[in-house]
Amino acid sequence: MAAARKKRTVRDVMTTPVISADPGMSLQQATQLLATHGVGSVVVLENETPIGILTERDLVRLTSSGADLSSATVAQWMTKDPKTVDAKATVDAALNLLAESKFRHIPVLSDGKLVGIVSIRDLMRIAEVRPFGTPAVDVPKGLKGVVVAETEIGDVRGADGFYHYRQYNAVELAEKCSLEEVWHLLHVGRLPTEAELEEFRARIRKHSVVPHDIQQMLPGIARLGTKFVPLEALRSSLSLLTSSWNFRPWLDVGIDQLREQALMICAVFPTLVMSLHRFNQRLWPVDPHPDLSYAANYLYMWKGEQAPPEHVRAVEQYLISTIDHGFNASTFTARVVTSTGADIGAAVVAALGSLSGPLHGGAPSRALEMLDAIKSPDEVDNWIRSAVASGKRIMGFGHPVYKTDDPRSVMLRGIAERLGGPRVEFAKLVEERVVAILEELKPGRQLYANVEFYASIVMESIGLPPELFTPTFACSRVIGWTANILEQAADNRIIRPSGRYIGPPPPQPVPEFDSR
Ligand SMILES: CC(C)(COP(=O)(O)OP(=O)(O)OC[C@H]1O[C@@H](n2cnc3c(N)ncnc32)[C@H](O)[C@@H]1OP(=O)(O)O)[C@@H](O)C(=O)NCCC(=O)NCCS
Repeated sequence: MAAARKKRTVRDVMTTPVISADPGMSLQQATQLLATHGVGSVVVLENETPIGILTERDLVRLTSSGADLSSATVAQWMTKDPKTVDAKATVDAALNLLAESKFRHIPVLSDGKLVGIVSIRDLMRIAEVRPFGTPAVDVPKGLKGVVVAETEIGDVRGADGFYHYRQYNAVELAEKCSLEEVWHLLHVGRLPTEAELEEFRARIRKHSVVPHDIQQMLPGIARLGTKFVPLEALRSSLSLLTSSWNFRPWLDVGIDQLREQALMICAVFPTLVMSLHRFNQRLWPVDPHPDLSYAANYLYMWKGEQAPPEHVRAVEQYLISTIDHGFNASTFTARVVTSTGADIGAAVVAALGSLSGPLHGGAPSRALEMLDAIKSPDEVDNWIRSAVASGKRIMGFGHPVYKTDDPRSVMLRGIAERLGGPRVEFAKLVEERVVAILEELKPGRQLYANVEFYASIVMESIGLPPELFTPTFACSRVIGWTANILEQAADNRIIRPSGRYIGPPPPQPVPEFDSR
C-alpha cells in the first residue's frame, strides 16, 4: 500500500479550483463563502500569492469567543504565512508536512502559482489509513463554547457577568440564604420549606463525623508537621472513606442510594478537610458541633472555638457563591467519570484532581503570593509589566467564560471591604492596575479579576491559612459536583469523544529492536 501511495501526487488529490478570499473581507462574508462552496477552508490571496488561510475551525472558535463576525476581517484572524506544498509532491510527503506543521489544510502551488488546496482528510482518504465511515465534528481546543449536555442545575452568562443556580441569581442566593438551603436547591431541585430544611440539616449532621477507623489513618496522610499538600491528602482520604463505606458503581446501586451517598460525601467533606489540617499541625481533630450550621461548624472545627458571626457569614457567602459554575473542568471531570457508571467516590476524587491544577482551583494562595511579591503600591506597574513580558499569567485574573466583571469577585470585593482586612485597599489598587495593564498589553482579551483574587483576600481577613484556601473552595464545589453527578446518572450516556490523528501516516513497519 505504501508503494502505491508514493506514486500518487498532491495534484491527484487536491481540490481545485481553490476558493480564495480577500484579506479585507469580513468574517461574515468568509463564512458565507465556505457555506456556498461547501468547503472547509479558504486561501487568502494578495497579488495572487497565498498570505494566509482561514478554516471552518477558526470560525467555530471565533463564534464561540463572541467575536463580531460582521466587523472583524479575514486578515485579523487568518493563520498567516501558511505552509504550501508543490503539486508534484507525493501524498506521503504532503502528509508528513501536515503532520509536522500541525496544519490541516495546505495550499498547493505549481510554478509558484496557487493551483489547489489539499486537506489531511483528502490525503488520508487516498492513503486508506483511516476509516472514514464516521465523520468527526471539529470543535475548538479545550471544547471552549461547545455544549456537551443539557442541565437544569444552572448556567453562566459570560458576556452579561451573570450566573444562576436553577432559576435563581446565584449572588442573590448568597445574599439571602443559608448554605444548607442552596445545597437543598441543587440536590433536590427546589428551596426547602422550614420543615424540609430542619430534616435536611438533621441528615447532614448524621453524616458529618469521620468514622473512627478512617480517622485513625488520617495522620499518615496528613504528613504531620511537614509541608501539607491538602488536595492530595483530601483525595487519598476520601478514596479510603468511600471504599470503606463500600460505595459501588452507581449503575449497580440505583439513583436513590446514589442521592444518599452524595449527601454523605458533602456532609463529611469539611470534617475531613479540618481533621487533615489539624493532624498536620499536630493537633487532635475537633468533632463537628451538632448545634452549628455548616459554615459555623467549618470554622469551629478549625480552631475548636466558635468564630465571630461576621466571619461565619463571610465564609458562608463565599461557599454559596462557589457551589457550581457551569461545565468547569472539575465538574466536567465528575460527569465523565460518572458517565462510565463508576461509583460516586471515584467521580469526586477525579474532580478533586482536576481542581488541584493552578489554572482551575489551585490559584487563590498564588494571588496572595503575588501581593507579597509586589510589596508596595509604587511597585505595582513594574511588577505586572515585567511578569506579562516574561510570559507569566497574573494569578486571579482572566476567566474562560467571563469577559466582563466576574459577579463572584464583585460580591467578594464587597465582603472584603465589609471585613476590612489588612490588604483590602492594596488589593483594590492592584486589581485596578492589572486590569488596565492587561487591557494595554493584551488588548481585546477582556481580562478581569476572577473569583480567586478576592476569595484570597476574604480568607486572609478571616485568618484562614493559605493551604486551606483551595480545600475550602472544594467544600462548596463538592455540592455542585455531586448535583452534576446525580443529573448525569439520571440521564446517562457514556462520554466518549474522538481525537483526530495527525501523526505520521500508519501503518509503518515496526523497526527491529537493534535498528531503533
Ligand atoms: C483562567 C484562565 C486559565 C482562562 O484561560 P482562557 O480563557 O482559556 O484564556 P487563554 O488561556 O486562551 O488566554 C487568552 C489570552 O489572554 C492571556 N491571559 C489570560 N489570562 C491571563 C492572565 N491571568 N495574565 C496574563 N495574561 C492572561 C493569555 O496569555 C492569552 O494571550 P494571547 O492571546 O496573547 O496568547 C486564564 O485566564 C489564567 O491562566 N488565569 C490565571 C490563573 C487563574 O487565575 N486561575 C483561576 C481560575 S478561576
